[in-house]
Amino acid sequence: SMSETSPQFESLYNEMSTFVDTCMSGHDPSHNPPHVHRVVKLAVKILDAERQLDPEVQYSGAVVKLAALLHDIGDRKYLPNMSTDTAKGASLDPKTMVEHALLQRGAPADLASRVQTIVSHVSYSTECKDPSVIRRLIDQGLVELAIVQDADRLDAIGAIGIGRCFTFLGAQGRKFAGEGGWIMDNAIEHFGDKLVKIEGMMKTATGRKMAYARTERLRVFEEWWEEEMKDSA
Ligand code: ADP
Ligand code: NI
Repeated sequence: SMSETSPQFESLYNEMSTFVDTCMSGHDPSHNPPHVHRVVKLAVKILDAERQLDPEVQYSGAVVKLAALLHDIGDRKYLPNMSTDTAKGASLDPKTMVEHALLQRGAPADLASRVQTIVSHVSYSTECKDPSVIRRLIDQGLVELAIVQDADRLDAIGAIGIGRCFTFLGAQGRKFAGEGGWIMDNAIEHFGDKLVKIEGMMKTATGRKMAYARTERLRVFEEWWEEEMKDSA
């Protein structure tokens, strides 16, 4: 396939990065380009550590980087706000959007297909529907999925995760807020509904270790929240 250190890869990555910035710059701060670029950095960090831990497993760095960069392209929550124009002519079908965008820019077919499969299976809700599908993909050799998924989930917890949770609901308002209640209450409820469960779903040893520290921060924040709410009750 394509080596992550080749000039062809660098040029493809830069083109895809421009594509992502165009597609996502209008999204609220929870899913904007800085989120994606943090996830790429976290994925590379996890990849480096996992390669040290087990040199037997063959990871494609090109797949990890591109899948991390493109992981939120085609997110159904944001598709209604997108036009084919912002998507630079890419189809708005979440099942094929990433693969087409990659092929349009000269990516090898196997690379484009692997990246699309990761992007289509990275989300928390997809995993909750049927965790065995994810397990099977990783066991059958799509080892990069574990890394990209862990990287995305790390950005959903800890101090940054708290910031994203509040900013998501602040921006999306009633569309995604739970039934009744106020936005801030919905945000705190999201901690228990999803954020504290993330640590137990991490796929890599490196990711799990980082998730442990970040989940502690969520718990401390929840305690502070309770304490202050009691003060004002
Ligand atoms: P994933 O990529 O794991 O499927 P999402 O895109 O659904 O995750 O969510 C990423 C982040 O956006 C969440 O961790 C949270 O901060 C915020 N978010 C998404 N949906 C909600 C929601 N219904 N309530 C609060 N925050 C949300
Ligand atoms: Ni994401």
